[in-house]
Amino acid sequence: MTENNRRLGILISGRGSNLQSIIDAVAEDRLVAVIAVVVSNEPGAAGLQRARLAGIETLVIDHRTFPSRSAYDTALVEALRGYNVGLVCLAGFMRLLGKGFVDAFSGRILNIHPSLLPAFPGLHGQQQALEYGVRVTGATVHIVTPDLDAGPIVMQASVAIGEDDTVQSLSERILVEEHRIYPEAIARLLSGRWRIEGRRFVKI
Ligand code: GAR
Repeated sequence: MTENNRRLGILISGRGSNLQSIIDAVAEDRLVAVIAVVVSNEPGAAGLQRARLAGIETLVIDHRTFPSRSAYDTALVEALRGYNVGLVCLAGFMRLLGKGFVDAFSGRILNIHPSLLPAFPGLHGQQQALEYGVRVTGATVHIVTPDLDAGPIVMQASVAIGEDDTVQSLSERILVEEHRIYPEAIARLLSGRWRIEGRRFVKI
């Protein structure tokens, strides 16, 4: 990424704890960026209230009010462009984004996922890890490509799984790591000091 547009558009669907970690990192100058807008596809998302409390503009773009996935994606792109967003951060945004959206912000979309990708993509990454019986799982921040949870990996953090772990206890520990690495990964992307080699995210 060569241009240095530090205006973030954050997409959420629910609780918004990762959104909060980004709001806090910006407030504490750990992340030099501006949160231009928070967009939710769910009108009742708790994260909207977090954004409003922080004085950040919010939009609800409800996928149920659009005739097709591509019409929804087009509306999202137009809204984000309207706020001059340079980097899109998915933070618990539970909708698949089509190629049209990904191409519009190519290399400028990040996602956080609750597993060590490429293990356990898709929904319920924590439950998948428990059911599989792995001893270590974690969190991944990656660049979004048209393939689900498959883009170049920017940062990961591992979390050990204990005998007594439940989905809830594991999710809580993974979330601590998510909140730590997501703002740092965003800062890394915004620095522009990286390139993609094959499918590797490489610092320069
Ligand atoms: C987070 O654990 C995030 O990794 C996960 O949803 C949660 C959102 O929490 N995302 C996915 O599973 C994406 N496939 P939050 O709303 O409190 O940030």
